[in-house]
Amino acid sequence: MKISLEFQPAERVDAEALIVPVFEGRPETRFGAASLAGEVTGKALEMTLLHHVSGVSAARVLLAGAGKPEKFTASEQRSLASAAIRHLKAKSVARVALALDPAFAAPEFAQAAVEGAILGDFDPDTYKTGEKKKAVESFTVVVTAHDESLDRAIERGRIVAEAQNYTRALVNEPANKLTPSGVAAAARQVAAEYGLECQVLDREEMAALGMRALLGVAQGSAEPPALVTLRYQPSGAPSGVHLGLVGKGVTFDSGGISIKPGDGMEKMKYDMAGGASAIGAMRAIAQLKPAIAVTAFIPCVENMPGGRAQRPGDIVAAMSGKTIEVINTDAEGRLILADALSYARSRGCTHLVDVATLTGAIVIALGHLRAGLFSSDDGLRDRVLSASRSAGERMWPMPLDEDYKDYLKSAFADLSNVGGRWGGAVTAAIFLKEFAEDTPWAHIDIAGTAWLDDEKPHLAKGPTGLPVRTLVRLALDWEA
Ligand code: BES
Ligand code: ZN
Ligand code: ZN
Repeated sequence: MKISLEFQPAERVDAEALIVPVFEGRPETRFGAASLAGEVTGKALEMTLLHHVSGVSAARVLLAGAGKPEKFTASEQRSLASAAIRHLKAKSVARVALALDPAFAAPEFAQAAVEGAILGDFDPDTYKTGEKKKAVESFTVVVTAHDESLDRAIERGRIVAEAQNYTRALVNEPANKLTPSGVAAAARQVAAEYGLECQVLDREEMAALGMRALLGVAQGSAEPPALVTLRYQPSGAPSGVHLGLVGKGVTFDSGGISIKPGDGMEKMKYDMAGGASAIGAMRAIAQLKPAIAVTAFIPCVENMPGGRAQRPGDIVAAMSGKTIEVINTDAEGRLILADALSYARSRGCTHLVDVATLTGAIVIALGHLRAGLFSSDDGLRDRVLSASRSAGERMWPMPLDEDYKDYLKSAFADLSNVGGRWGGAVTAAIFLKEFAEDTPWAHIDIAGTAWLDDEKPHLAKGPTGLPVRTLVRLALDWEA
C-alpha cells in the first residue's frame, strides 16, 4: 500500500473514497453529515458511506464513527482507520484518503491512522485460489497544517505496521509449509533485506552447547530444530545496554506424548507467534534504527509424538546446568525458552524480554484482550508497560512471588516442568525466571492475544501480530 501525506483541504483530495471521523455528541457540519443527523450517531466504528457529496472531489465519503471525543486516543484512531479500510476493501475501493480531525492531528494520530490502514488491509488468504479481495493501493493522510514530524510519523507507522503484517503472515503459515528450518530461512531473508546479522545453530551446535532441554522437545519430530539469532548493532550504541528479544518458535505443538485433544489442535500452528513477533520487530528495528543494540533469539522446534519422542518422566540437563524432570511433554515452550534464555545471557544481553504463546492458563486469567506481563525487574516492567501503552497493545502485570517456586518441586531433578493445576501462567513464568537468573528479564504470555478466533470490524480473523509494536517501541524509546 502506497502511503502519503497531503496538506490541503480534505474536500480537494483526489481519491476514490475519503474517510472522515465523526464524533459522538459533536454535531458534524462537514461533508453532508448534518443532513443525516440522527442516522449518523458517531458511535465508535459506525460506518456510513455517501456518494457524490457536493463540494468534495472524492467520489465517496465514508463517515467513520469515532466515539466520544474525550475518549479518542491513538488506539481509537488506529481501529477507526482499520475498520474503514476493511469496509472499503470489501467494496473494491483502491485509492483511499483519511482526513485527520483538526483536534486530533498530532503525529501519534497520523502514525496510528497509517498503522490502522495497513493492518486493516491484511487478510489471511495466501492459500485461497479463487477470487481474493483486492489490496488497497494507496492511503493518503490529509492534514490542514503541515509539520515535518508528520512525515516521520507516517513513515514510522508504515514500517511498524508492515512488520506486524509480516509477522501475521508468518504466524498464519501452516506447519507443513513453515517448519523450524522455514523460520530460519525467513529470518535469513529479513536479515539480507534489511541489513541484520543472522546466525542459525543446528542440532549438533546446540548439543555442543548443552541445550538438552531444547533438544529433548525437538527429538520427537522428523524436522530438525534451529536456534535463530538476528542481530542489530548500531555504531555508537551504549555499551551498557544490549536488549535480547527471545521468541517461542514451536511451529506445531501437538503436545508430544502428552498429546493434546484433537478439537482445535489445528490452531497450534500459531505456537511460533512469539518467535514471529521477534522477527517482525527486528524487521522494523533494522529500518527505524534505535540507539541501542538489540538481538532476537528464536528457538524453533516442532513438538511431535514419535518413536524417538521425549517421554513424561525423562530428565534433561539444560544449558545452565539445571536438571528438569519433564512431567508433561506439552509444557514444551518453557523447555526451549530455558536454553534460549541461557544462550542470550551467554551472548551478552543485559536485558531480556521473552514473548511466548506459553499457557492456556493466561487465557483463563486475562481472556483475549490483554497479554500477561511478568518481570523480575521493576524498571524493565515499567519500560515494557509504557511501550505497550504507547503502542496500543494491552498487557497486565502478573505476580512472581518467590514461593510460587515450591509448585515446581521435583522429587528427582532440580525442577519439574509443570506446577500443577493452579496458577499455571505464573508457574510457567517462574520456571523461565530460573533460567534468566540475575539478568533483568520480562516475559509476555501472548497465548490469548496472538490469535483472533472471530473477525472484528477492524481486524481479520487469525493472527494479530501482537506484540510487534510494543517490542519496536521498547527499543526506540530506550534512553540508555
Ligand atoms: N502452546 C501451549 C499453550 C497455549 C494454549 C497456547 C492455548 C495457545 C493457546 C503450551 O505449550 C501448552 O501446551 N501449555 C500447557 C501447559 C501445561 C501442560 C502445564 C497448557 O497451557 O495447557
Ligand atoms: Zn504445549
Ligand atoms: Zn506450546
